Amino acid sequence: MNYVQEKVVVITGAGSGFGKLTSEKLAKMGARIILADINKEAAESAADGIKSEGGIAEYVVADVSDKEQVEKMVQFAVDTFGRIDVLINNAGTMPMAMFAAKENDIWDKCIDINLKGPIYGITAVMDIMIRQGEGQVVNISSLYGTCTHAGAGVYSATKSGLKMISDALRGETRGKIKVSTIYPSAAATNISSTVLDYSVPSDLYGKHFAEFMERIEKNPESLTNPDMNDPGSMMLSAEAITDAIIYCINQPKGITISDIMVRATNEAMVY
Ligand SMILES: NC(=O)c1ccc[n+]([C@@H]2O[C@H](COP(=O)([O-])OP(=O)(O)OC[C@H]3O[C@@H](n4cnc5c(N)ncnc54)[C@H](O)[C@@H]3O)[C@@H](O)[C@H]2O)c1
Repeated sequence: MNYVQEKVVVITGAGSGFGKLTSEKLAKMGARIILADINKEAAESAADGIKSEGGIAEYVVADVSDKEQVEKMVQFAVDTFGRIDVLINNAGTMPMAMFAAKENDIWDKCIDINLKGPIYGITAVMDIMIRQGEGQVVNISSLYGTCTHAGAGVYSATKSGLKMISDALRGETRGKIKVSTIYPSAAATNISSTVLDYSVPSDLYGKHFAEFMERIEKNPESLTNPDMNDPGSMMLSAEAITDAIIYCINQPKGITISDIMVRATNEAMVY
């Protein structure tokens, strides 16, 4: 069954990575997509790509750390398609660095984007979905929402906070709004460009870092385009995550998929 057909889906951070690929795949399944991103060119080109393939999509520029812009994004979706079935809170940054680096301004912004952004999104769509009698919020957390290590504290705090927000929203709106949380492990997207201290991600592989580097040296593509048929893979493709997001959305009305964690089979993070 295709439960995605004609659904109106608003996706933040839709100009790149999971957001872009999820938009493309949902559009191919017949959903109507609002692609929101702080990066106008990226959002516009992603929306144009969908339209050129016959899909239904519009883009809107929105900085999710700004409540008014998020409210305008939601209004734009309603004005364009008349309703909102799904909000995917996906936009995020990962400015990992040790506390000793005192990157407070950048961390403040990360908290605004990763944690306050989804709250602004939820409060903006809530009344609309309750009025419709149905709706769904999908929050993109992280493996880091369930554990952490040195240098990942602020990012982890935003992502574990997102799990709590999801669970509280599900309890508050049960029977009306479905709430799903996705916990991706490391996947090949542009998010690594927002890391401040690259010794931190190397730390996250801990005792397995040498194995990770050896795999990349032997096969550089395993970093950017990992083979998901390889049981030795230590990275995920973006597609592995988008399939999990779509699985949450492509369900009948009475079923909520609350939590999905996706890991590479040979993942060696944190432990
Ligand atoms: N890639 C991974 O390994 C991984 C793992 C776990 C969780 N995540 C989470 O997945 C989500 C998507 O990340 P991705 O990996 O696709 O990264 P990405 O960098 O490829 O895409 C992120 C998108 O968010 C947009 N964005 C950034 N700040 C924004 C803002 N203030 N307002 C609106 N848009 C903004 C960017 O322009 C970009 O298009 C993030 O929340 C990230 O924390 C990623």
